[in-house]
Amino acid sequence: IDELLAEGVTGKRVFVRADLNVPLEGTTITDDGRIRAVAPTVAKLAEAGARVIVASHLGRPKGAPDPAFSLAPAAARLGEILGADVAFATDTVGESAKATVAALTDGQVAVVENLRFNAGETAKDDAERGAFADQLAELADVYVGDGFGAVHRKHASVFDLPARLPHAAGYLIATEVGVLKKLTDDVRRPYVVVLGGAKVSDKLGVIDHLLEKADRILVGGGMAYTFLKAKGHEVGISLLQEDQIPACLDYLARAEKRGVEFVLPLDVMVSAEFPDLKTKAPANPELVASDAIPADKEGLDIGPKTRELYAAKLADAGTVFWNGPMGVFEHPDYANGTKAVAQALLDSDGFTVVGGGDSAASVRILGFDENAFGHISTGGGASLEYLEGKTLPGLAALED
Ligand code: 3PG
Repeated sequence: IDELLAEGVTGKRVFVRADLNVPLEGTTITDDGRIRAVAPTVAKLAEAGARVIVASHLGRPKGAPDPAFSLAPAAARLGEILGADVAFATDTVGESAKATVAALTDGQVAVVENLRFNAGETAKDDAERGAFADQLAELADVYVGDGFGAVHRKHASVFDLPARLPHAAGYLIATEVGVLKKLTDDVRRPYVVVLGGAKVSDKLGVIDHLLEKADRILVGGGMAYTFLKAKGHEVGISLLQEDQIPACLDYLARAEKRGVEFVLPLDVMVSAEFPDLKTKAPANPELVASDAIPADKEGLDIGPKTRELYAAKLADAGTVFWNGPMGVFEHPDYANGTKAVAQALLDSDGFTVVGGGDSAASVRILGFDENAFGHISTGGGASLEYLEGKTLPGLAALED
């Protein structure tokens, strides 16, 4: 982007592909981290006199307009962050978008409606995606890719559009890639990885990769129960991916062979019912050993012994990568595991990276100072796929 700015962007229509996929409760944004993260790129372009068109997906609408997934709240928040009026087009490439872009003056910013209201954005078919990219290309003169959270998606605005316009990477993508490179090239040891979140199947590739790199892997969250089951423990009605048990057994065996410490919860907080996240009514969880989960209960957070163990395993880390919450952190009775891991990262002298939409949002929602961490990635799947060593379509498209 610096080269682009040096060439001059005054009067140019610059399309910024952002990731404004923020968590919403109705129309209220519960974590605006992703909007704040892309704001410097938008601000710099606007300051330089560009006519900035910001586009993003939000959620997973079905290729047609759906008010529940409107970007209007994100556009309003971007305006607040920039301290400027941000125009909003009620469609992505239609009459509203064309008129909104045509009305932009130098230095003004507009947001167009959710890219995924158009089936072409996510189409598997190259021609269908290409046709939508052609429509997007008509709106702009230059493309800036800065939606790091979406670079692993081969979508029209991420992959096909940059091929149609002069293009550059924004500041957010540059920062994210710089940090993740540090985790793949020259890591300071011990390299400790904390993995949580719901599903083992989302983490298969990254575990594969990390078994070659990490010194310790600590597992919590919903995915821990499939590992516990693989070790022969009963997990009651906890989240379980039965079909992933062979993969878990393979990981445990490989970790042992390679001398990687693979650490599972010692104790867990369980309940017969999933907590009410709206009312946050007391859930009265029960604490049990991880090999004694009652048949009618599910594990919803790691317990105090596990918190202490994980904090100890993180204390001397040279590098930490953390992806995925340790429990249902949205409910106060099940937030302690995630809080303990966040605190252990803050207490660590190592380089700490929090990756993943949910874990990044969780540290902010739980009230931690995000600036105290080495880096909080805006990418969930994107940062995991980067660490797996995969070619990411949205980065490949910018590389030439
Ligand atoms: C994310 O939340 O990880 C990104 O915004 C990508 O969203 P997606 O998984 O719906 O493509």
